[in-house]
Parts: sequence; C-alpha cells; structure tokens
Amino acid sequence: MKRIALALAFAALVVCAGCGKKQQQTGQATETPGKKRWTIGMSQCNLGEPWRVQMNKDIEEAAKQHADEIEVIFKDAQNKTEVQQAQVREFIQMGVDLIIISPKEARPLTKPVAEAYQKGIPVIVLDRKVEGDQYTCFIGADNVKIGREAGKYLVKLLGGKGKVVELKGLMTSTPGQERHKGFMEGIAGSQIQIIFDADCQWLEPIAQREMQSALARFPQIDAVYAHNDPSAHGAYLAARQEGKGREKSIKFIGIDALPHEGVRYVREGILTATFEYPTGGKEAIETALKILKGEQVPKNITLGTRIYTKENVEQGGEPL
Ligand code: FRU
Repeated sequence: MKRIALALAFAALVVCAGCGKKQQQTGQATETPGKKRWTIGMSQCNLGEPWRVQMNKDIEEAAKQHADEIEVIFKDAQNKTEVQQAQVREFIQMGVDLIIISPKEARPLTKPVAEAYQKGIPVIVLDRKVEGDQYTCFIGADNVKIGREAGKYLVKLLGGKGKVVELKGLMTSTPGQERHKGFMEGIAGSQIQIIFDADCQWLEPIAQREMQSALARFPQIDAVYAHNDPSAHGAYLAARQEGKGREKSIKFIGIDALPHEGVRYVREGILTATFEYPTGGKEAIETALKILKGEQVPKNITLGTRIYTKENVEQGGEPL
C-alpha cells in the first residue's frame, strides 16, 4: 500500500515538472518557487560596431532594473548569418521564455524566427526587420523617414542641386533598403544627382575604399550621404587622405548619432549633420516584460529620431 502511494506521489511530481516546462515555453513563470524569473535570449548580429555595443548596453541596463524578474543571455553572431540562424535555434532548444533578435539580414533570418514564434516563443525583432509577420513585435526607428529627412536636408543645404555620393549600408538588410528609398523620395524633384553609390555593408573601411574610387573618378563631389556614421567618417578620411583639401568642401551626412561617435563628429566639424537612430534596447526590455506578463503589445513600435547639426548640437539636436 505504502509503495503504491509513493509511486503515485512520484508520478504526480513528474507530471508537475512537465507542466512547469510547458508553462515556461509559453512565457509563464519559471520553476523557481516563490520567484518569477524569465530567461530572455538575445542574438546580436555583431559587436564589431559601436552602435551595437551600445544596444547591448541599453538592454543590459534596462534588464538590471528588473533583475528579480528576468535574466538575459547574450549571443554575438559575429556578423555571420549562419551563426545567427543557429543561435535562434539554440535558444529554441534551450526553451528560453522570449527571444530578442537584431538580425543581420532580412530573408535568411525569417525562417528561424518563424520557427520560434510558431513554437510559442515570443520574438522581438529589433532595428533590422525580417520578412513576413511571423514574429511578435518589431521595434525600430522609421528608416524611410530618416532617409527622406536626410534627402530634404541635402536639397536645402545644396540649394536644390549638386553631385552626391551615396554610401549605402548592407543592402540585404532593411535599414539599407529603407534609407535609400527615403532618400530618393527626399531629393525627388530637385536637381540632386547621385553620381556614385556603393554597398559598404555598414563598415567604415569599405566606405573609405569606395570613397577613394569616387574621389579618383569625380572632380566635383558636393556631398556624401552615408547610411551610417562610420561610413560617413570613412568617406571623410578618404577625402582628407587625398590631400587636395576636399574634406573641407564636401558635406558629409551620416546616421546613428551616438554621443561619442556621430554627435562628436558634428561638434568637431567632420560631419555636417547626423540623424539619430535609437538602439531600442530599453524599449525591447520594457516590451519583453509586457509580453511575458501576458499583456498585449503592438505589432510595430516606431521610435523617434533627431537631427544634429553644428547649430543645434549643444542643445541636444532637434526632434523630427
Ligand atoms: C550597426 C549599424 C548601424 C546602423 C544599423 C542599421 O551594425 O550598422 O550603424 O544604423 O546597424 O541596422
């Protein structure tokens, strides 16, 4: 009799443990008695760029405010798509409660994200998008708007006409596509001409090299529209290296506006303007907590932007 009772108790325990695991996957509280602590897996496409280091810092800081509720596991995909695909699948295997991903490229990351989402693991896609709608929430600034504002700004700056070099970001990622699209809208109807463009993959050394080619080919360049500040800076370095003083006449425009990067370049007169691209790290954690607590969140959360020029940099830029 005693044995049967023991066996029954044991069986009940096993069933219960199973329930706990299932609950965890659907975003309910984890097993620690008396304490809810959820595990969030964060896949960062690379940590080679200052903006991404800042994003992780923003996530870490926001998560620290809720250390009793969440724990974040960070993974760095080192700018390799296959590594990032594997990371998402690893998080699924681990049974994390929620995934945050800042994907390197849209198309190849769409499937792993959809797999997690279909298994009931909420996914927040941060900054760069995936395709379709198989994710919980996208958080990021409006890159079409940023591109359009940059275009409108250049039209004004150059008096409606001029020769421009466009140094694009990775064009298999959505911010690159959208910053280009918006820029074309912004300069539409003007006599601004894009005389040279290149996919610089968001990287300063590539932008520097591409700008060297542009400088060698074109005696007149009025402005550089770079999809991020590292690329704008790379272009500036190429112009300075050329040794003809063109770094002083060409206007360099960038995007990101990190305080110790783009904003500093504006202050130093290297960039004419930069547009803020917020990391969304804090918002990702706030949204993650809402999802984990069962609250409804919007499918899209759009973050704001600001322009920094030498006229407004000391006042903290101007919202757009
Ligand atoms: C960093 C970065 C930023 C850019 C963002 C776009 O990897 O290149 O400079 O604004 O990614 O996703």
